Amino acid sequence: MAYAAFRSIGAYAPADILTNEDLSKMVDTTDEWITKRTGIKERRIAAKGQTTSDMGVEAASLAIERSGIAKEDIDMVICATISPDYFCMPSTATIISNKLGLNNVTAFDISAACTGFVYILSIAKAFIESGMKKNVLIIGAEKLSAITDYSDRGTCILFGDGAGAAIISATDDKSEAIIDIHTAADGTYADLLMTPNGGSGSIHDSLDQEANSCFMQMKGNETFKVAVRTLTKDVIDILEQNKIQSQDITHFVPHQANYRIIKAVGDALKLKDEQVVMTVEKYGNTSGASIPMAINDIYEQGKLKSGDLMLLDAFGGGLTWGSALVPFSPIK
Ligand code: UT7
Repeated sequence: MAYAAFRSIGAYAPADILTNEDLSKMVDTTDEWITKRTGIKERRIAAKGQTTSDMGVEAASLAIERSGIAKEDIDMVICATISPDYFCMPSTATIISNKLGLNNVTAFDISAACTGFVYILSIAKAFIESGMKKNVLIIGAEKLSAITDYSDRGTCILFGDGAGAAIISATDDKSEAIIDIHTAADGTYADLLMTPNGGSGSIHDSLDQEANSCFMQMKGNETFKVAVRTLTKDVIDILEQNKIQSQDITHFVPHQANYRIIKAVGDALKLKDEQVVMTVEKYGNTSGASIPMAINDIYEQGKLKSGDLMLLDAFGGGLTWGSALVPFSPIK
């Protein structure tokens, strides 16, 4: 049987920085409030004209280069995004594939908001274990600045732009394999975090262009409570089911929405600070890109070593959530 190995990581963060100080000139907020309630100090914003696929290509190129796998051997490209280049089609994955020179691969997007990276990891794992694909490029890429309402202080302080990518490939060596992935969704909570306009379910008349903007709306406090409850249960479950102790996790890499959510889940697992990867202060919430950007951070700091065990967890619009137990398995 083929197993799926997490071979490499790459990420891209645009150069422009939007600080809490900048935001305090745009909406009624302060650096103190944002820092205390979220842990965020600044976030990156894509340049004018720079698209989600442009950022995805940067991240993907690094992941391919670091994988040691020839670009031509990639047989599937999946992109997790809620801010695609185009509303319906073509998919951002096909645009990224084309920009990389991969024009005969399976390529598609998925929409699972901030849980997107965990979802595409599980899809890559399933395709590889079934024998259908051998080398899958997965990308979480977001230009959230394009769907953020910069007059809404409840959301605009949270989100940023960026991309992260990984190569998942087939191996016969079980010790290299992704151990387990949980993915779940509960549409009961759909209205907590959504872009209510612009689609066929739009609450506005479809010809009303202005009302059709795809801005995100969130009931932040309710989302926060469901996030802590759901994530805590999910990570405890995945560890118990796989008979893994929290002290055996080298890096806990959670979705970077709010340091208070990360702290609550980390405390529930009794994790030490050095096990918890935190990038929320410099990138804010980059939705599907946040986990691979965080993994890339520890990789570039030299902290992510071959054989290290990562515990990923994520939570987002849908509502969706998921977790994964992933050894870092670069080609030896
Ligand atoms: O990534 C996908 C999943 N997303 C999440 O998991 C996000 C979850 N939610 C959160 O991170 C937090 O709920 C927020 C950071 C969005 C908000 O923090 P909170 O502690 O839940 O604040 P709150 O919404 O309960 O608001 C508390 C107060 C309110 O004022 P009153 O009613 O107490 O007078 C808000 O109007 O803070 C006010 N407020 C602000 N004040 C200054 C809300 N946003 C701001 C702001 N600056 N930006």
